[in-house]
Amino acid sequence: MGGRYAIVLAAGQGTRMKSKLYKVLHQVCGKTMVEHVVNQAEAVGFDHISVVVGHGADQVKEAIVGDVSFALQQEQLGTGHAVRCVEPLLKEKQGTTVVLCGDTPLITSQTIQELVDFHEQEASKVTVLTAIAHNPHGYGRMIRDERGEVSKIVEQKDATAKEQAVTEINTGIYCFDNQALFAALKKVNNDNKQGEYYLPDVIGLLKDSGGKVSAYSISSLNETIGVNDRVALAQAEKYMQKRINDYWMTEGVTLIDPETTYISADAILSQDATIYPNVSIKGASHIGEDCIIESGTEIHDSVIEKGVHIRSSYIYNSYVSEGASIGPFAHIRPESTVGKEVKVGNFVELKKAAIKDRSKVSHLTYIGDAAIGEDVNIGCGVVTVNYDGKNKHQTIVHDGAFIGSGSNLVAPVEVGKRAFVAAGSTITNSVDEYSLAIARARQVDKQNYVKKD
Ligand code: UD1
Ligand code: CA
Repeated sequence: MGGRYAIVLAAGQGTRMKSKLYKVLHQVCGKTMVEHVVNQAEAVGFDHISVVVGHGADQVKEAIVGDVSFALQQEQLGTGHAVRCVEPLLKEKQGTTVVLCGDTPLITSQTIQELVDFHEQEASKVTVLTAIAHNPHGYGRMIRDERGEVSKIVEQKDATAKEQAVTEINTGIYCFDNQALFAALKKVNNDNKQGEYYLPDVIGLLKDSGGKVSAYSISSLNETIGVNDRVALAQAEKYMQKRINDYWMTEGVTLIDPETTYISADAILSQDATIYPNVSIKGASHIGEDCIIESGTEIHDSVIEKGVHIRSSYIYNSYVSEGASIGPFAHIRPESTVGKEVKVGNFVELKKAAIKDRSKVSHLTYIGDAAIGEDVNIGCGVVTVNYDGKNKHQTIVHDGAFIGSGSNLVAPVEVGKRAFVAAGSTITNSVDEYSLAIARARQVDKQNYVKKD
C-alpha cells in the first residue's frame, strides 16, 4: 500500500471577501480558516501535508504551526494550477492524495477519514466529496450520467441552465490516486469562462480515459461550506460556534443560552462551569470547574481556576486563582495575577498587578505595576500613581496592610507589612511595617464663613 498525502489550497486572494486580509486568514471562532483545515488534516494523520501559498504567503505561513511544507504558487491561475505547484514534492509517490481547500473551515477529520476509506475500498482514481445544497449557487455541480454515475464537474459560471439546476455540489474536497492526479493535471487547460486551470476538470479527464471516478456524499452541507464572502463567513462562524458549544455542553458545562455564548476554538472549559448569556471566551483561555461567568464578560487568553465567580468584566492575558470573585465591571488588563479568594470589585482596573490570596480591592480602584501581598485591604478609590509622564514605577504593598479610601500611592513606593495608610493620604515615601501613615493636610474649619456677606 502506498502513502497518504494531503494538499491544502490557500493561495487565493479572496476577492469576494473585499478585504485587506487574505481570505484563508479570516478567522472562524478565533482561529484562521486555514488553521482549522490544517488541524483537521493533522488529526487524520497523513504522511505529509503540503499547503499551497501565494497571496499573503508570509502571513499564511506564519499562521500555521505544525509539521507541514509549503509550496509557492506565484500566480493564481486556478485550483488545478495550484495543485501542480506540489508536483515536485509528490510526483514520485504512490498512494492516495487528498486535496482540501483553505476556505472550508468546517470540514472534520472524521469526514476526511471516511472519504479516504471509501476511496481506497472502491479503488477509484478519484473520489469527490459532494453534498446536496438547497441553494447551490456558486459551487461546481456534480454532473452524473443517465445511470447516475459521476461524469464531470461543471463550474457555476460555465454551467448550462440544466446543469445549474443540479443541487449536488462539489465541496472542493477530493481524494485522488496520486499518480493519476498529476498525470491528468498535465492535460487540464484554461479554456473556460474564468480562464483558469480548474482542478475539478481532472474528474472528467480521468473518466474519459477510462478510470474509475466516484463521489462520496455527505448529508451535512454545513460541514463543507466554502467561505467566499462575508455572508458565508458569518454562517461558518455560526455553525462552528454551535459545534463548539454542543461539545462543551456534552462535557458537562452549562450554557444558559448557547446562541449568545462565544467560545473560541482554542478555549478549554471544565465540568459544572456555568456560562450566562452574552459571554465571550476568547483565545486559549481555560475556565475551571464550578466557575460562574455572568453576562457581559469577555475573557481573552486567560486562565480562570475553579470556583471563580465573574460578573460583567473584561479579563485579558491574566491568571485568576481559585475562589476569586471579579466584578461587576472590573477590567483586568494583561499580566495580572489574582490570588485565591481575592475580591476584585466594581470599577476596579488592574494592570500588571499581582494580588496575593484573600486580599480585597472592592471598589473604584486602579492598581497598575504593583505587587499586593496577602490579606491586604484596599479601600475605595485608591490609585497607584505608576506613571510620571516618562516611566512606569512599581508599588509594593506587603501582607496584611490596610490602604484607606481615596489614597494615592505615588510609585516607586512600598507599604510595609500590616502598615496602615489613613484615608485620603498621598503617600510619596515608603511606609514602615506596623506603622500608620497620614499624608494629608489637616482640616481647617472657618466658623460662620458662609454667612459673612
Ligand atoms: C471551488 C471549486 C468548485 C467548488 C468550490 C467548493 C474550482 C475551479 N472550483 O470553487 O467546484 O464547488 O470550490 O468550495 O476548483 N486557490 C489557490 N490558487 C488558485 C485558486 C484558488 O490556492 O489559483 C485556493 C483558494 O485560496 C481557495 C481554494 O483554492 O482556498 C478554492 O478556490 P476558490 O477560488 O474559492 O474556488 P471556488 O470558486 O469556491
Ligand atoms: Ca471557495
